Amino acid sequence: MKALSNPFVISGYEGAHYFCDRKEETAQLASEIANGNNVALIATRRMGKSGLIEHYFSLPEVQEKYYTFFIDIYDAQSLRELVQKLSREILMRLKPYGARVLQRFWDTMRSIQPGISFSPLGEPSFNVQIGDIQESETTLDEIFRYLDSADKPCIVAIDEFQQIGSFAEKNTEAKLRTYVQHCHNAQFIFSGSQRHTMSAMFTNASRPFYQSVSIMHLESISIESYDSFAKSLFQEGKRKLADGVTAQVYEVSHGITWYSQKLFNTLYAFTSEGETCAPEHVQEALDYIVKTQAYSYEEVLFRMPEKQKMVLIALAKNGPTQKVTSASFVKKYSLQSASTVQSAMRGLLEKDFVTTEKGIYSVYDIFFAYWLQNTY
Ligand SMILES: Nc1ncnc2c1ncn2[C@@H]1O[C@H](COP(=O)(O)OP(=O)(O)OP(=O)(O)O)[C@@H](O)[C@H]1O
Ligand SMILES: [Mg+2]
Repeated sequence: MKALSNPFVISGYEGAHYFCDRKEETAQLASEIANGNNVALIATRRMGKSGLIEHYFSLPEVQEKYYTFFIDIYDAQSLRELVQKLSREILMRLKPYGARVLQRFWDTMRSIQPGISFSPLGEPSFNVQIGDIQESETTLDEIFRYLDSADKPCIVAIDEFQQIGSFAEKNTEAKLRTYVQHCHNAQFIFSGSQRHTMSAMFTNASRPFYQSVSIMHLESISIESYDSFAKSLFQEGKRKLADGVTAQVYEVSHGITWYSQKLFNTLYAFTSEGETCAPEHVQEALDYIVKTQAYSYEEVLFRMPEKQKMVLIALAKNGPTQKVTSASFVKKYSLQSASTVQSAMRGLLEKDFVTTEKGIYSVYDIFFAYWLQNTY
């Protein structure tokens, strides 16, 4: 176990010791995969989807039995980019298994062979540029042929999977579905955050992936679990965490993991060895975090079209709101009209400043919302 200067991790995965709970979810994921199912993992942003996948991949029994591959396609614009990311990931993950395993992959990947080289010691390097991929479908076909012929079963996780909906090639979804369906040596985890786009992909009868996966939703970690996790990390750092702090943190974070972690990371930094962190410190931590972000919040607002800015501030002040186009909401915040709100809201949703769930709109970033409420 790596010793961290602050045990509350706010980016990436640092191993089981710093990972809170998710026992049931990990077991469920393991069981779905063990039973031959593909999985769609859907949750609000920053709830811990990527972390859960990494946690599951790091289990010794998974490492032993499978080759695991994990790509994030958040910033990918085309199938070509997906194919590039996936082939790089496969090469890099296979590296520790040595020459024989790498050779098999290299042999299959004819279309990009010139971009994969080996040092005299057999260390691979990946130099395939997007432009080097002539026919993304040919390369995709090779990747799946490799997966099907690998000497171990494979698990491929594609994070931010909803992104394939905006790929340049319009039929990516159907194409991938066909490959996934016919690949017997690999299983897939598709994870994503835009609940609507992701859900629609798997639950809409007219879509290629309809009923092809088990859908898992990730909810908040229970407050009891989180409290004992946080208390034990404080104790290891020779600090004490008083009762009631976790409840206070959850009040602010709404139980969304990243916000809880960020608050606890700050609280931990504020507490010296031998001291006790008390509930009233949560407000100080929140103010501190928001203060350090204020400059970038201002930048964001400065660049935002005026109408979107007005609607965002209104929503932050009002809190989670159902009827954003109602006359009372429009009037209360002096917004022009229902249709102005509607079009501004579309823009805000698109850029992820606002999220909507079950018809309720809210500002996506909890700390940003808090700052907006207190600044305007
Ligand atoms: N069970 C956990 N225990 C402790 N920290 C966690 C846990 N799950 C996630 N985290 C932390 O919370 C943060 C957000 O988690 P993660 O990136 O997995 O969320 P996500 O749902 O994939 O978010 P996004 O939608 O932005 O991709 C990470 O910094 C991670 O370190
Ligand atoms: Mg993620």
